[in-house]
Amino acid sequence: MFDTLDGGTAPDPNPALRMTVIGTGYLGATHAVCMAAIGHEVVALDVDEAKIAALASGVLPFHEPGLPELLQEQLASGRLRFTTSAQEAAEFGDVHFICVGTPQQPGSYAADLTYVDASVRALAAHLQRPCLVVGKSTVPVGTAARLTAMLHELAPAGEDVHLTWNPEFLREGFAVEDTLRPDRLVFGVQGDGGAQDELTLRAVYAPVIAAGTPVVVTNLSTSELVKVAANSFLATKISFINAMAEVCEVTGSDVKDLAAALSHDTRIGGRFLRPGLGFGGGCLPKDIRAFMARANELGITQAVEFLREVDAINLRRRSRIVSLALEVSDGDLSGARVAVLGAAFKPDSDDIRDSPALDVADALRSTGAHVVVWDPHAVPNAKRAYPQLTYATSTEDALRGADLVLLLTEWEEFCTLDPVRAGELVNRRVMVDGRQALPAEHWAHAGWVYRALGRPAIPHATPSGAPVSQLEGAA
Ligand code: UDX
Repeated sequence: MFDTLDGGTAPDPNPALRMTVIGTGYLGATHAVCMAAIGHEVVALDVDEAKIAALASGVLPFHEPGLPELLQEQLASGRLRFTTSAQEAAEFGDVHFICVGTPQQPGSYAADLTYVDASVRALAAHLQRPCLVVGKSTVPVGTAARLTAMLHELAPAGEDVHLTWNPEFLREGFAVEDTLRPDRLVFGVQGDGGAQDELTLRAVYAPVIAAGTPVVVTNLSTSELVKVAANSFLATKISFINAMAEVCEVTGSDVKDLAAALSHDTRIGGRFLRPGLGFGGGCLPKDIRAFMARANELGITQAVEFLREVDAINLRRRSRIVSLALEVSDGDLSGARVAVLGAAFKPDSDDIRDSPALDVADALRSTGAHVVVWDPHAVPNAKRAYPQLTYATSTEDALRGADLVLLLTEWEEFCTLDPVRAGELVNRRVMVDGRQALPAEHWAHAGWVYRALGRPAIPHATPSGAPVSQLEGAA
């Protein structure tokens, strides 16, 4: 029997596979837990002993809604184990998923493949029998072909070790949902054994496919490209609407209304068309840069040159919001208490990699402001990376006495803030809404100066320029 995606149980159409997941970061930990949840026997491997010890005791080293409960459930089922031994993993698995990180190289746009190469090398040394290695990490096109040669050379089982590529598209905050109910599955297969490898992958994902998930089977390089192409498209869509925000700023137009009007065109759609502070995180920024670096190596720089502008528009959002913060503070923030709401790169995550919020908080600090940051989950990570900033202990604590408030990550608890109550805590009612997440009229009606990138200033309930907190009738 296996757990069905709607929570019931069903007769097992496929015997459980014995698989390993190599790398237990965001992608790997989620994949390992979800593969156990659909009935497979899973061993997850990482070189980080502390991380493995935490996971083995049911503790998830990052914030992801729904995953801790599923981790504990699968540990209890006996289908999920954790190890630091590559030999143990190699001996156990018939299918090995490569899920290690491919961060941006320091001082370069290119992806750092150190972890991919090291994990494949460590595994290969112990592969004594035919098996399938499945790459899930986001890699520059051409990597899979190189890894195939490496596996054939280093594995005792030689060419009986097959390699396929199966990119992951999971979003932080929705990782379990995106793994168990993905929009699509992509299988990149090669050579004579490709048809058999496809069948193995279909067996791995049997309940996911049975639930109606479309499968695209293609060659290795296309499957590698799908992931970077998808993230490039999403980044481009976000930067497009943010470029329109720049136009709106000089024409007195409202980018929020513009985005709403565009989104009714079903060819365009409203997703990833939210204007604001732009994209960050461990994927979109580094993936578009790695794509540019790879295109350059391939002699096709021009083909993705537009991504340079996508990146530039995105980074400009950050400096533009600092300018807006200065503008609403009469050009001088020195000594001002500035509350920054949000540190994670997006809500429902404690990931601060390339976080626009922290980048802006630090830039505000360098204008002489006393910046106080609050985030429901990302403060411990933020403190390690930005020890120079001051951190609050709650939203109220951050707001108390603030001369200026910036909403930079749209956590639900910030989006539903009561402007009257918030107004009682601050020194001046001035809100810069970096995510266009607040009901502007409501805030203005409560006496707040409300500003957002690409939107005209709206009249608020108090005479402009006056110390609004001292005025009556602000609500
Ligand atoms: C992304 C891809 O969505 C996912 O498919 C891929 O596997 C990994 O990269 P993730 O990084 O988790 O996922 O975040 P995502 O939800 O895509 O958001 C990325 C960034 O774009 C965030 O900083 C978010 O705030 C920003 N964003 C998103 C916008 O600024 N506007 C939008 O309309 C949407």
